Amino acid sequence: MEIQSRPIAQLGESILREIAPVIDNIAAETVQQLAQEMLLTLENSSGVGLAAPQIFESTRLIIVASRPTKRYPYAPEMAPTVMINPEYTPTDTVLEKDWEGCLSIPGIRALVPRYPSIRVVYYSLEGERKEVTLAGFVARVFQHEYDHLNGLVYLDRVENNRDIISEQAFFKLIAA
Ligand code: NI
Repeated sequence: MEIQSRPIAQLGESILREIAPVIDNIAAETVQQLAQEMLLTLENSSGVGLAAPQIFESTRLIIVASRPTKRYPYAPEMAPTVMINPEYTPTDTVLEKDWEGCLSIPGIRALVPRYPSIRVVYYSLEGERKEVTLAGFVARVFQHEYDHLNGLVYLDRVENNRDIISEQAFFKLIAA
C-alpha cells in the first residue's frame, strides 16, 4: 500500500460535525492504511493529536501523540498511540481550564475546561483491548480528539468568548 500525507479538513467542512461510526474490522486494510496515513500526516504537522474526521474519514480512530513542537513547546513526549473505538470515564469531578488549538482551526487558541484525569478504553491497531489512565496534557489531548469523533470542536466547550485568543498572542503569553 502507498502511504500518503493527507489534507486537513478545516472548520466549516461538514465532516467535522458528523458522529463517526465505530470500526467493526480493525484488521481491514482500509483501517490499517488510514492509521498509517494519519501517523504520517501528524508527523508532517506540528500537531499533538489527530482524529480521522480531520482527514475526511468519518470513523472512530484517533492518534494521541504528545511531544514538544513549535505549537506546543511544553508538551510531554510520548510514542504516538493509535486508539480505535475509544471511550473514557473521568476520574476527577472538577474540570481544569488550559490552552488548546486545533489543526482544523488554525491561528487561534482558547482556554478549554477538561477533566485532568481519565480512564480510557480503546483497541490498538493489532485489535487488542487496552485500558489506561491518562492525566494532564495527554488527558486533554485525548478528550479533544475524542470530541472530533462526535462532531465537536474545542470551541464548542469554551465557556467565554474572552477565553479565545490569536495564536500570536498565545506565543507571547507562554514566552512571558
Ligand atoms: Ni482538533
